[in-house]
Amino acid sequence: MKDLTPDRSTLEPIEVASRDEIEALQLTRMRWSLQHAYDNVPHYTKSFDDAGVHPSDLTHLSDLAKFPFTAKQDLRDNYPFGMFAVPESDVARVHASSGTTGKPTVVGYTQADIDLWAQVVARSIRASGGKPGDKVHVAYGYGLFTGGLGAHYGAEKLGCTVIPVSGGMTERQVTLIQDFRPEVIMVTPSYALNLLDAFQAQGIDPRDTNLQVGIFGAEPWTPAMRREIEDAFDMHAVDIYGLSEIIGPGVANECVETKDGLHIWEDFFYPEVINPETGEVLPDGEQGELVFTSLTKQACPIIRYRTRDLTRLLPGTARSMRRMEKVTGRSDDMLILRGVNVFPTQIEEQVLKVQALSPHYQLQLDRVDRLDTLTVRVESEPGTEHEGRAAGQQLQDHIKSVVGVSCTVDVGAPGSVARSQGKAVRVVDNRSKD
Ligand code: DLL
Repeated sequence: MKDLTPDRSTLEPIEVASRDEIEALQLTRMRWSLQHAYDNVPHYTKSFDDAGVHPSDLTHLSDLAKFPFTAKQDLRDNYPFGMFAVPESDVARVHASSGTTGKPTVVGYTQADIDLWAQVVARSIRASGGKPGDKVHVAYGYGLFTGGLGAHYGAEKLGCTVIPVSGGMTERQVTLIQDFRPEVIMVTPSYALNLLDAFQAQGIDPRDTNLQVGIFGAEPWTPAMRREIEDAFDMHAVDIYGLSEIIGPGVANECVETKDGLHIWEDFFYPEVINPETGEVLPDGEQGELVFTSLTKQACPIIRYRTRDLTRLLPGTARSMRRMEKVTGRSDDMLILRGVNVFPTQIEEQVLKVQALSPHYQLQLDRVDRLDTLTVRVESEPGTEHEGRAAGQQLQDHIKSVVGVSCTVDVGAPGSVARSQGKAVRVVDNRSKD
């Protein structure tokens, strides 16, 4: 793989500023953001008043802990535009999350918000090793989901040539990658595996493309998956994180030269990690739930938003801004199987260890005689079908000894596990149907 470390002179000054400078900027911006939310969003006026706090109570960054949290339910309760802090006529765009349970959550952006978003995505692409003049194949979905348009505007802002493919039509994506020769691809890691299959089915070695870096996010993925993708495509695989409530993709990104966690673009999004049970703010280095406060957003300021993503905050390395450890699970995705907590990514690590299995997997939960059971659906790599039985047994043993749960492993034929079209559906829960 090529060394893609960006020239330091191309970074924004704030990316390499001192901690003091960053914190001074955060404090000024946080005061503004609290006041803006309090003055313009009835939800915040009420929640601050109920908690007995006023924006003027913030004199240090740590005073943020006095302010109430915001949860996804608050956005749902204010559906569709109740969390907007500007007149609707000033909103340049809206996005929404799909909302598998209940109403979707809607977010709005002024033109200045869209510019800020493009700036952080451009910064993220540069951190990943992309540069002006590169061609960027965007296979995140375009539409209400923030992935496609977020990546698109950021790539344009950096001075790249955007190839706005969106999701789907996987065979055609292979042709486009062959013919247009992009250096950068932005896509979910699970859809990248789908593309990998399509390359193989067409008899093309993905290592022969012009791709140098893939910028993967929107769902959890493991270091084992990084190795799998880097080997298969002979390109760097870098992690991008974000969520629509905060802005979309580009809240945090790994640096290609270190790949040691994601630098949070802290000049725009202030992170805290809390104990999810008590709400207490934890010191950096301790694992808990990630919480964000927007510092400059106009249309949808967001104060202490509980992401449900589990991680820890770490000091800066390649940049001065703090890092968050790779998110390998959300509290919502945690399965509890006979008392053992399991994240789908723990199973992913084990699947990727077994040579004869493809990296595609899905977990199925059933309830049999009031006991929860886990079936891990995997498939053989083409050409290794005869090893399927042994591979299944090996996976079952690994899961029992490393993860600590008993499961059934179902090894199907190549192509039998449902393919991702964007965010992968890792868990099929049949238990509620009982
Ligand atoms: O997934 C935004 C995005 C698009 C991020 C493209 C990166 C790339 P939502 O649909 O609102 O927004 O979903 C946000 O997805 O709270 C995490 O649980 C999960 N997630 C996003 N990025 C990562 C990542 C977009 N790199 C939710 N690693 C978040 C693990 C991620 N989980």
